[in-house]
Amino acid sequence: MCTDTAKLSIPRHIAIIMDGNGRWAEERGKHRLFGHKAGVDAVREVVETSRSLGVQHLTLYAFSTENWRRPEGEVSGLMTLLQSYLRSELKTMLSNDIRLCCLGEAQQLPAEVREVLEKTMAETMHCGAMVLNLALSYGGRSELVRVARSLARDCEEGRLHWKSIDEELFAGRLYSVGQPDPDLLIRTGGERRLSNFLLWQLSYAELYFTETKWPDFRRPHLIEAITAYNQRQRRFGRTGGQVLSLAVEQP
Ligand code: IPE
Ligand code: IPE
Ligand code: MG
Repeated sequence: MCTDTAKLSIPRHIAIIMDGNGRWAEERGKHRLFGHKAGVDAVREVVETSRSLGVQHLTLYAFSTENWRRPEGEVSGLMTLLQSYLRSELKTMLSNDIRLCCLGEAQQLPAEVREVLEKTMAETMHCGAMVLNLALSYGGRSELVRVARSLARDCEEGRLHWKSIDEELFAGRLYSVGQPDPDLLIRTGGERRLSNFLLWQLSYAELYFTETKWPDFRRPHLIEAITAYNQRQRRFGRTGGQVLSLAVEQP
């Protein structure tokens, strides 16, 4: 593994499906919430490492629209953890120049979580070194339906002609408006699926799956994922030869 991070090309945007908390706890004979709590330490280390490596956008899948189907006790435990994470991290975000954004249906979150989320987003609005997106009550399909509805309404009310709808206009109405698409998607916990995450934005992301469960994921694991990313050739539909000659022309 390459540990000299100076030699690595750092993805501009990394997205992570933080999976495996429940199984990590169950393996230890503990309640699932114990795994979610341990996962917060991994979040802290990954945010800090990403910032120090120069990642500009980091998106963490923290709670999906489908996760509302979990037992009430697990959902409320997750909401409490989220609230305390946000409370405890504001200072660190400010001192590290990290801006917090939320992707998802924030209005579905309990009022006390929404309150601290909005406060943190407002107070870090001016920060420019890295954007930390928390995907909360996020579902890729519902995000796309939301865009379709907003475009349809604008057409119906005469503000937009259907022929003006293109990829740029569509992307401009996603939660991630203004941010580049993820270059690298990491999923921990051994599953190999997207679970309704960033269906539009991940079109050309490099996918990296690891057996490591989220509570065990640390700086070396992140560097390993970035090292694997460095070994990929991103062709975006072109041939390998074209990509190599473009790299020579445009260093
Ligand atoms: C991911 O871990 C965290 C959330 C979905 C909130 P899981 O809770 O899904 O852990 P496993 O997959 O059951 O081990
Ligand atoms: C995806 O994990 C959602 C988050 C990590 C927040 P899940 O554990 O909910 O995904 P599935 O249900 O196994 O596909
Ligand atoms: Mg899971």
